[in-house]
Amino acid sequence: MDVLEAITTRRTIARFRPELIPPETLRAALAAGIWAPNHRLTEPWRFVILGPETQRRLAARFGELKAAKAAAESAERGERLRIDSERMFLAVPAIIAMVVVQEGDQQQRREDYAAACCAAQNVQLAAWAEGIGTKWSTAGVTRDPLAYELLGLDPARFDIIGFLFAGYPAETPPARPRRLPLEEVIRTTP
Ligand SMILES: Cc1cc2nc3c(=O)[nH]c(=O)nc-3n(C[C@H](O)[C@H](O)[C@H](O)COP(=O)(O)O)c2cc1C
Repeated sequence: MDVLEAITTRRTIARFRPELIPPETLRAALAAGIWAPNHRLTEPWRFVILGPETQRRLAARFGELKAAKAAAESAERGERLRIDSERMFLAVPAIIAMVVVQEGDQQQRREDYAAACCAAQNVQLAAWAEGIGTKWSTAGVTRDPLAYELLGLDPARFDIIGFLFAGYPAETPPARPRRLPLEEVIRTTP
């Protein structure tokens, strides 16, 4: 698969088959991340692969946070959402926290965040080329103090830019015209 094909065919994947990703395949996708552009070679990205115990504990937190939102409407709906969300999080074959080092002034942090996002997209594309789907999630659990604690990250020094949920797709959403035509987002100055 060439780069343009990976870019244009990649879709965010919400449901995965249960097979685990071989560790070397996951590492190969993450290795693509470290080749992202980064100003002044700060290499600000860090990747934390969640182990089973961490995933289990964050699954419970994910469920609680989802339920808390819904519980205002109905306690029963909240409880159902808690159970379903926890189960969904637990069923994800691999979860990788994409992290950026927080250093320097505001401009450096802005550039480092951009570089870490480039790294995350590199990983998504490299995974896709190997038949692995991903979802970049910024759900509340990715910002929760428990995530920082369980991942061993000091929030003063590290920022979780998102979790990549990864696995072999159970289904791939069809390509649909969900992007503005290029003509609407491009112009040329005199
Ligand atoms: C910074 C960022 C955060 C995202 N957070 C979420 C999320 O929390 N939940 C989710 O379902 N998708 C999330 N996504 C994925 C987008 O929903 C997805 O990219 C968008 O719907 C376009 O679909 P595509 O990736 O298949 O082209 C996120 C994407 C980015 C770049």
